[in-house]
Amino acid sequence: MYYKKASAQAGKLKSKEKVTILAVETSCDETSAAVVVNGRTVLSNVVASQIEVHKRFGGVVPEVASRNHIMCINNVVDEAIVKAGIKLNDIDAIAVTYGAGLVGALLVGVSTAKAFAYALGVPLIAVNHIKAHIAANYVEHSGLKPPFICLVVSGGHTAIVKVTSPTHFELLGQTQDDAIGECYDKVARVLGLGYPGGPIIERTAAGGAGDIVFVRQDSFGKSCDTSFSGLKTAVINYINSKRQAGAELDMANICASFQAAACNGLIEKTVKAAKDYGLKTICLAGGVAANKYLRNGLAERAAKEGIEVLAPTMAMCTDNAAMIGALGYFNLLAGVGISELSLKAEPNIELK
Ligand code: KG4
Ligand code: ZN
Repeated sequence: MYYKKASAQAGKLKSKEKVTILAVETSCDETSAAVVVNGRTVLSNVVASQIEVHKRFGGVVPEVASRNHIMCINNVVDEAIVKAGIKLNDIDAIAVTYGAGLVGALLVGVSTAKAFAYALGVPLIAVNHIKAHIAANYVEHSGLKPPFICLVVSGGHTAIVKVTSPTHFELLGQTQDDAIGECYDKVARVLGLGYPGGPIIERTAAGGAGDIVFVRQDSFGKSCDTSFSGLKTAVINYINSKRQAGAELDMANICASFQAAACNGLIEKTVKAAKDYGLKTICLAGGVAANKYLRNGLAERAAKEGIEVLAPTMAMCTDNAAMIGALGYFNLLAGVGISELSLKAEPNIELK
């Protein structure tokens, strides 16, 4: 009954001039809700971060994340609606992250979204979190249109993607083992620098010589595939052997050298992909896209080939619901992800 009405309504929204979407994101350690109009205009984007809660464990504890999402989701959604200056009946559809992520954490957002969709009698749109990171670029760059190459770098994914439309992607290559963000977090942890590791490593690397060679990178030659576990292990072995020898660790140099090794290969592969496909725009997406070494390095390298690099602002790189609202709108237009109330949380969906 609900689905029949909601899917008919989803069809009608395709031609509505102004589509207001309430979006919900709870895939990891940020509880977020946003109100987005036509996929590009963000009326509100409330993010309650749990970083402080997880810091003492040195990483995200899934069960703790779920409990914290439950505690704050209602307040976060209320705040997003109030800040947007809208009423509940202005909402045309609900978009929600249904994967990838921690299953218990995802369930909180999915259940909340279902309740709103049912109560308001509006369509429920399932959104893939990784694809939504890419969509953050539409919010930030109003004229951006596919095709373009996107380098997706987050805590769980590292991929080079050809984006052919907001809802169509060609996976050109990806990490065969660890994600780049995971390595930043692991190296920071071994160095005793805290969580999340990305921003701390970036800060610690400032002024470091960056001249330690941990491992010869690029075992995947000309393909867009990458690997990070060899680098991670080499850095950890280096740190352990220095410690065993009682030598002092040059933190800045270790961080700068790791950062260069992690980013340089990706930069080269991304620029090569853009050249191979004759595309003049590269976008960055995901939490690690907040990294200035990667942003600036990619922009400088691409500029030499006449290719422009676009990246979301820092706040739109890390997890937030505005990007879910953006992709939710494009999904709606393409008839993708219009869901029944039986929608399940999918921890392991891929970028396809
Ligand atoms: O996209 P995201 O917020 O969550 C996932 O979907 O995974 O990415 C989180 C990852 C973490 O590994 C974090 O350490 C990394 O992004 N990160 C950074 C920076 N800011 C966040 N990595 C490098 N430099 C940064 N400035
Ligand atoms: Zn993310």
